[in-house]
Amino acid sequence: MNINKLISLSQKPKLFERSKTAFWDDSHISKKMLEAHLNPDSNAASRKISIIDRSVKWLNKEIFLNKNIEILDLGCGPGLYASRLAESGYSVTGIDYSERSINYAKKQIKENDLNIEYIYQNYLTIDFESEFDVIMLIFCDLGALTNKERDILLDKVYRALKPGGIFIFDVFTDKNRSKDLLDKSWEVKNGGFWSEKTYLALKESFFYAEADTFLDQTLVITEEDEIRTYRIFNHFYTKESITNLLNKFGFANHSYYSDMMGSDYSKESETLAVVTKKLK
Ligand SMILES: C[S@@+](CC[C@H](N)C(=O)[O-])C[C@H]1O[C@@H](n2cnc3c(N)ncnc32)[C@H](O)[C@@H]1O
Repeated sequence: MNINKLISLSQKPKLFERSKTAFWDDSHISKKMLEAHLNPDSNAASRKISIIDRSVKWLNKEIFLNKNIEILDLGCGPGLYASRLAESGYSVTGIDYSERSINYAKKQIKENDLNIEYIYQNYLTIDFESEFDVIMLIFCDLGALTNKERDILLDKVYRALKPGGIFIFDVFTDKNRSKDLLDKSWEVKNGGFWSEKTYLALKESFFYAEADTFLDQTLVITEEDEIRTYRIFNHFYTKESITNLLNKFGFANHSYYSDMMGSDYSKESETLAVVTKKLK
């Protein structure tokens, strides 16, 4: 094992320095992620099915009002929200760059005859102009983007909305995890989440106070001494910081909730859900 290389890879990376390793679209990891998405009792890749059902119920009743609307679900995964919304009568487009999740979702349309289009695409490259009444980005995915990617996405979402259209998303808040408890852990496995091979995984978290961002970095070392680096950033927001950001991109009339089930906003909540509007 090349310990010197490990020492060098274990240094705190620069803020938002991405590794080159695919995560969501990796052939092995995407299989494990799909299993997690489809586990009704897991909050790992998607929220538990009971929570998703409550979210869709809230969105239908309080936000979409059963109108004839077109919805774009960004990072739709295997279509857990999209399929439920299509069953409620909306026209839905889902975009995700896990090919495995999109293929699974497409199979469900055929089996259930739903009004959905699924697209395998990086949502940072969408190019719609005033096409959707609603755009959703669910499970705190905005916070996984670098600031530059986030700004690209907010601009594209704004353009893709029809005048009067709404953007619905959630983020983690500063109550989600403690800056004082940065994790370091390891796992040795004969095939598991990170690889089908025997591997040692070294996980470490870093905090970037200047950007309200955590990084979870995992180094995965196989018996052939191959080392792969996975980095997941997690930018957390407050009501104030997300409001300033949305104002910058032209969004208005923001409403805040504690979660995607429409619970009243609380400063103590670990998540913050936002419904915001493109006025004209
Ligand atoms: C945490 S999962 C949430 C999935 C879904 N929104 C849900 O709550 O069930 C994030 C999803 O976003 C997708 N994703 C991440 N970055 C993406 C990107 N740049 N373009 C398209 N999809 C992306 C992943 O493949 C994954 O399916």
